[in-house]
Amino acid sequence: MISDGELVIKAAEAAEKAYAPYSNYKVGAAVLTEDGKIYTGCNIENVSYGATVCAERTAIFKAVSEGHRKLIKLAVFSPDSKEYVMPCGICRQVAVEFGGKDLVVLCAGEAGIYKIYTLEQLLPEAFMEF
Ligand code: THU
Repeated sequence: MISDGELVIKAAEAAEKAYAPYSNYKVGAAVLTEDGKIYTGCNIENVSYGATVCAERTAIFKAVSEGHRKLIKLAVFSPDSKEYVMPCGICRQVAVEFGGKDLVVLCAGEAGIYKIYTLEQLLPEAFMEF
C-alpha cells in the first residue's frame, strides 16, 4: 500500500505537467482507488479561463473513466503555494461523489508540510443525493 508521502510525491510529479500559462499556478493531484491504483492529474488552463480544469478533477476523471468509482485518498500539491494548496469548492463536490465523506485529502506544497483532512471536514453537509 502506498504511503501518504508517496502519494504526495506522485501529486508533485504531476504538477510538473501543469498547463498554467495564465495563472502561473501549477497544481498536481493523485488519487488512490479502493483497489490500490493511482491516477494523477494536473491543472489544464484555457484562454477562455472558464474552461480551465483543476488538477484534482483531472485525476478523479481519469480514475473514473478507467472504471474506478471508489476513491479512498486524494493528494494535491502546488509548487507555487506558500504553504499547501486546498481543493476548490467544485473539486470538493466532485470528490465527494466518488470518495464520500471519508475520503482522505492530503494538501501539500513546496514548504514540505502537509495537512490531512477528511472530505467531511472540507465539505460538511455535502449534497450527496436527490
Ligand atoms: N487549481 C487547481 O488545479 N486545484 C486547486 O485546488 C486550486 C486551483 C488551479 C486552477 C487554475 O488553473 C489555477 O490553479 C489557479 O486558480
